[in-house]
Amino acid sequence: MTSLSNKRILLIVSGGIAAYKALDLVRRLRERGASVVPVMTAGAKAFITPLALSSLAGAKVHDELFSLTDEAEMGHIELSRAADLVVIAPATANILAKMASGLADDLASTLLLATDKRTLVAPAMNLRMWLHPATQRNVATLRADGVLFCGPEDGAMACGEFGPGRMSEPLAIVDAIEAALTGDTTLPLPVGIAAAPGTKAPPLAGRRVVVTSGPTHEPIDPVRFIANRSSGKQGHAIAAAAARAGAEVILVSGPVAIPNPQGVTVHPVETAREMLAAVEAALPADIFIAAAAVADWRVSEEATEKLKKTGGGAPVLTLSENPDILATVSRPGARRPALVVGFAAETEHLLDHARAKLARKGCDMIVLNDVGTGTDTFGGDTNEVTLVTASETIPWPRLDKTEIAERLIETLVPRLEAKPS
Ligand code: CTP
Repeated sequence: MTSLSNKRILLIVSGGIAAYKALDLVRRLRERGASVVPVMTAGAKAFITPLALSSLAGAKVHDELFSLTDEAEMGHIELSRAADLVVIAPATANILAKMASGLADDLASTLLLATDKRTLVAPAMNLRMWLHPATQRNVATLRADGVLFCGPEDGAMACGEFGPGRMSEPLAIVDAIEAALTGDTTLPLPVGIAAAPGTKAPPLAGRRVVVTSGPTHEPIDPVRFIANRSSGKQGHAIAAAAARAGAEVILVSGPVAIPNPQGVTVHPVETAREMLAAVEAALPADIFIAAAAVADWRVSEEATEKLKKTGGGAPVLTLSENPDILATVSRPGARRPALVVGFAAETEHLLDHARAKLARKGCDMIVLNDVGTGTDTFGGDTNEVTLVTASETIPWPRLDKTEIAERLIETLVPRLEAKPS
């Protein structure tokens, strides 16, 4: 077994001289047990033939957006989602520009827009094209969207110039693919990104953020559980916003019915105790945000068989208190994240309860929301919150949950930077 056994890579080859290296990349991936589904742009076919690519991949090359046979077998949406990872190698300036602006005018760009999987790109182009402010802007946008980069490298170009723009070697791309599939997203910044005029690294680049989201389910017996109305929308939106800000994000999520956010490693859990274990495994981190609605209680002894009506009256459930994840992570010590943020869902005496919770849990900030009857908070798309710290009370207007997530991350960035590292 290798780390690529049974992994399915959707490999998009775009049109550049480095396309010949994509053939070697396919070979290396298959040697490690991955299956490769190849896609070619029209430009790629000017450099290598579909026959060569499909022979090495042992699979048919997809190249047409409106192919009746392909759509009948596997539509382009399904094609983009059946993969474990989407890889573009080589990625030209043109395909990066299309991705950054969300264009979908051929099969490759449509797949990139439709996918719900991580995308790793290995750029290859002339150094002037790479260093052009337009390309650098596009790369910064893509990184903020959670797209992973491998290279380009410095080196001699096919055109005779020397500088950044060479595609990484196939084995380096294989390493990056393994890292992307195991959740390690701290791939090196592409050459030229930090140096390029007018661009700067996204604010949370190199930082790790751990977020909890959704409800927990506490089993009563094999068919019943204690739960709550949390949809996970707010926590998932925060994880997505942190990823857009360049962080490596680990989302520990209870059972939810919403899609995983882009560019985030998701650890699904059911119970509070599983959530605590997954959070502790994800530490150390720079920021911890506890947005989950953790069940405070669990049934002391989960029945191994379904509880039946016996005619002798209702069963009595004895409850035990669950571990407090937020309070545990907030405990002072070397592993405490620099910033710990909790949520408080309250129905009355909102500010008093939030301040008490801030002190009791030992976190740096409480995001207070009113979940009283008549509010749209649980399950809805909007939220009205007040940020509470030891010295501040900052009320925000009712906003979309994605907007709250965005603003929360913006608020946390300077606070994190102000902390001694
Ligand atoms: N929380 C947690 N682990 C728990 C309970 C709560 O991490 N076992 C976190 C939540 O994710 C949230 C914060 O603590 O960030 C407050 O949750 P809330 O349900 O409002 O508070 P409780 O701790 O349940 O306190 P109370 O019962 O007094 O409302």
